[in-house]
Amino acid sequence: MTGRRLPAPVICVDGPSGSGKGSLATALAERLGWRYLESGALYRVIGAMALERGVATDDEAALASLAQGLDIELAGEGAQADGIDLTERIRDEDVAAAASEAARHPQVRQAILTQQRRAAETAAAEPPAEGTPGLVADGRDMGTVVFPDAELKIFLDASAEERAQRRYKQLRNKGMTVNLRNVLANIRDRDARDKGRAASPLQPASDAVIIDSTDMTITDVLRQALALVRERGLA
Ligand code: DC
Repeated sequence: MTGRRLPAPVICVDGPSGSGKGSLATALAERLGWRYLESGALYRVIGAMALERGVATDDEAALASLAQGLDIELAGEGAQADGIDLTERIRDEDVAAAASEAARHPQVRQAILTQQRRAAETAAAEPPAEGTPGLVADGRDMGTVVFPDAELKIFLDASAEERAQRRYKQLRNKGMTVNLRNVLANIRDRDARDKGRAASPLQPASDAVIIDSTDMTITDVLRQALALVRERGLA
């Protein structure tokens, strides 16, 4: 905490890939009538555009300049950069890997910090129709770096095996042929990169509430989160 006031109340939902933080954050935003920021989508857009433009994911300066120059628009499920529709593309596995590699670089993180913080200003100035000012932000470092003064920080975790199972089912439901062992290996690789990097590694903020969703349904997780929201007087 830095004691600085945010333009609108903020709830952070951080956690590793497949922990269910996206489902929880969108459900919370909907219940509260608040705006939603999926910060991972910003890194995915950078990963997609790096692949598209042939920028190597180990070239920090080139990636940072790419990130700084991009006009990124996120709206609901939709994602665009410089007018190019990337909604489907950013969900691909090669883009997820590129995003995770790009996210290691401090200059890349710095390049999108302002855009992430601006989401709280937009939430204050333009709440959703019939909603109220407030932002639910999900990612890896929402509570530690981007919004250290958030009213509520949730760190949603689950075992790697459980997260791989969930991802595997999702991909199968999309009609894709996948192998559970490969999905688990991908999750472990991404965990190692996200937790092991020097810049804003994935870790709970000291004042975060940790929820382990391994044996919980999304309904249970939402119920627990809503109890915290009420406890903090946010609804
Ligand atoms: O949440 P996600 O799987 O869509 O995120 C994609 C990658 O972006 C992830 O591997 C790590 C990175 N990321 C990050 O470093 N910081 C964030 N706040 C969000 C995502």
